[in-house]
Amino acid sequence: MKMNRSEILNELIEISIMISSISNLNNLLDIILKKARDITRADAGSLYLKENDKLIFLITQNDSVKEINSKLKTFVLNMDKRSIAGYVAITKKILNIKDVYKISRDFPFSFNDEFDKKNNYRTKSMLTVPMIDNEKNIIGVLQLINSKDDSGRIIVFSKQTEKIIESFASISAVAIKNVQLKENIKKAHLETIYRLSVAAEYKDMDTGSHIKRISKYSELLARKLKMDDHFCELILYASPLHDIGKLGIPDAILTKPAKLNADEWEIMKKHTTMGYEILSGSNEELIKFASSIALNHHEKFDGTGYPNNLSGENIPIEGRIVAIVDVFDALSTKRPYKAPWPLDKILKEIEDQKFKHFDGKLVDIFLSNIDEFLKIRKEYEN
Ligand code: C2E
Ligand code: SIN
Ligand code: SIN
Ligand code: FE
Repeated sequence: MKMNRSEILNELIEISIMISSISNLNNLLDIILKKARDITRADAGSLYLKENDKLIFLITQNDSVKEINSKLKTFVLNMDKRSIAGYVAITKKILNIKDVYKISRDFPFSFNDEFDKKNNYRTKSMLTVPMIDNEKNIIGVLQLINSKDDSGRIIVFSKQTEKIIESFASISAVAIKNVQLKENIKKAHLETIYRLSVAAEYKDMDTGSHIKRISKYSELLARKLKMDDHFCELILYASPLHDIGKLGIPDAILTKPAKLNADEWEIMKKHTTMGYEILSGSNEELIKFASSIALNHHEKFDGTGYPNNLSGENIPIEGRIVAIVDVFDALSTKRPYKAPWPLDKILKEIEDQKFKHFDGKLVDIFLSNIDEFLKIRKEYEN
């Protein structure tokens, strides 16, 4: 499979475009390894990613030992020169070994034959390539095993292959780094939202566990409703913000250990529209979704709720979901103004509010899965 320079370039450009469009890290790693094996005609291969000072063995593919492809456990290598992958990560140089069972004792590394023994495999030629990004950082290591010629015989990886795989590895490194950056930003973003929700809650409750329960209950009810994964993730992360508008409610009202008077109640109800105003200016899908929950979680199915007296399916589904889990949680726990209710009374109340306060369809789904909600209640008790 000799390719000329422009064919090689075209192939690399195509691969580069393809892999930079993948946003899921596991899919990306799978495809990188698959492509690397295609390019080098390798029977098998593995991919390691650098994490702190370690190399994490993440995936392996092997055409001859099919069953290992999915079930092999991840393991961790120290970044030192005793392993082949560690040596390549440290030296940042490609290593092309003709036969791993004949590695000279002058080298600090040796071949670990555990896999071969276990699977009755014979690793022979091995090309180990550092994945180095545009800032010269090592991102990971690609290890390609047993290059085959047209007749299927195992041969040593060629010099030309070394050059191509070197470019490919750096394209891959940049793609991996970008996906990792995006995932880190998403994580930081979600954590910020979560921590702000907890901070807001400290005003009228002792702990952040109410937030965690609402979040988990909402996701569970959405799943039981068969909403899609994207919706379930949105509601998991957006529902903690449902009462963010309480930041604007005076403490004297929020923590009053008794029933609110009419004036206080008018102010209290504003936590829905205040929450909406805080969140609705955002262009972020998650924050917009949270603004809908803040606005609609006290609407009632029969139209007697607030702030807009919406009824039935005019209330967005996320509002109907949070309405039921919010009341379940309020009744289950102590509030400054009320003691917790016993479970049978709570369930009776929810059943009684079918098609009054709550969407009847959601009540049925909630009650028929009550064990799973109670499991969350127990897990996030305090
Ligand atoms: P919250 O304490 O998180 O309660 C959420 C919802 O749970 C309430 O929304 C209500 O639908 C339900 N709920 C809570 N306690 C009871 C109860 O004893 N009986 C029944 N049947 N349902 C209950 P709601 O009523 O729109 O209240 C919104 C927020 O206003 C409450 O959030 C709480 O922060 C505040 N609030 C409501 N009533 C009082 C009160 O009498 N005193 C004080 N200090 N705050 C109140
Ligand atoms: C290493 O890179 O040394 C670990 C895996 C192997 O030896 O095949
Ligand atoms: C959905 O939006 O698909 C849930 C059905 C509903 O609106 O009740
Ligand atoms: Fe509320």
